[in-house]
Amino acid sequence: MDLHDFKDVAENYDRYLDVMTENEKSHEHFQEFYYELAKKYGEGGVVDIACGTGAVLLYLAEKGIIADGTDLSEEMCRMASDKASQMGLNLNIYPADMTKFDSGRKYSLAIIARSGFMHLPTPILQKAALLNIREQLVDGGILTLNTFDPFPPHQAVQMKTGPDDYSFRLEYVNSDGKKGKIYNAISYDPVSQIMSGNWKFETLDDDGNVIDVRIRPVTMRQTYRQEMMWLIELCGFELVELYKDYNFEKAGDVSAHNLIWVLRKKCLCQKYA
Ligand SMILES: C[S@@+](CC[C@H](N)C(=O)[O-])C[C@H]1O[C@@H](n2cnc3c(N)ncnc32)[C@H](O)[C@@H]1O
Repeated sequence: MDLHDFKDVAENYDRYLDVMTENEKSHEHFQEFYYELAKKYGEGGVVDIACGTGAVLLYLAEKGIIADGTDLSEEMCRMASDKASQMGLNLNIYPADMTKFDSGRKYSLAIIARSGFMHLPTPILQKAALLNIREQLVDGGILTLNTFDPFPPHQAVQMKTGPDDYSFRLEYVNSDGKKGKIYNAISYDPVSQIMSGNWKFETLDDDGNVIDVRIRPVTMRQTYRQEMMWLIELCGFELVELYKDYNFEKAGDVSAHNLIWVLRKKCLCQKYA
């Protein structure tokens, strides 16, 4: 099980993510970015893969674009579906692995927002996901996903981080109205390019005493930009654009914290396997 498979994480995801991203410049216009892509490319149907609690999916629905949603985590899907029902929307949201899902229809736009792709821990699974998503797209269909440019100074710190070297991340108010604190201890293995470790969730009482502690594991893989370029080509996609933020600013050649890839399914007679 990974972080997002836990009920308590799914129930509080929106709450701590709001705090995590509220002052993050690189996160500005996150939802609008996907709305713009959906208007441009989504006429033939949109799917939000690794949709989480529906940050993109529900924003699109509010704006009149009805997308399907899928996520590996049943708990995240449940939260997204509950929120959709509360909004009076009947959306097709279902649990599935992006390496295998098949909703029985084709889409002109597939979205993997906010690092869903980085949760695939091996190049084999990344390839399986891209090939499967390719199958779900119409010819010329668009896939957008994001990665981080691996940053050696962070890698160096994480290579020295042990399982109990927790760093404070943020404080938030949980779904029961109680104060919560989040810490994490994430280490990096340069051979597999995997970041793994734990998030620690503390719940506090009104006097600030810790009354509950939950440890939740997480694994993500860092992918180098050039590695991603080869993977894209291998799986029958071509690069349309590479952005460094949600304001459609092009990434260029300098290192970027967030890289947002916009890829097009190449129409080839060649069969990919
Ligand atoms: C950081 S969350 C992002 C959620 C959402 N896209 C958002 O923007 O809030 C990453 C999501 O990827 C999902 N995920 C991880 N591995 C997956 C897989 N193999 N197939 C589908 N979803 C996956 C997790 O369950 C989690 O909900």
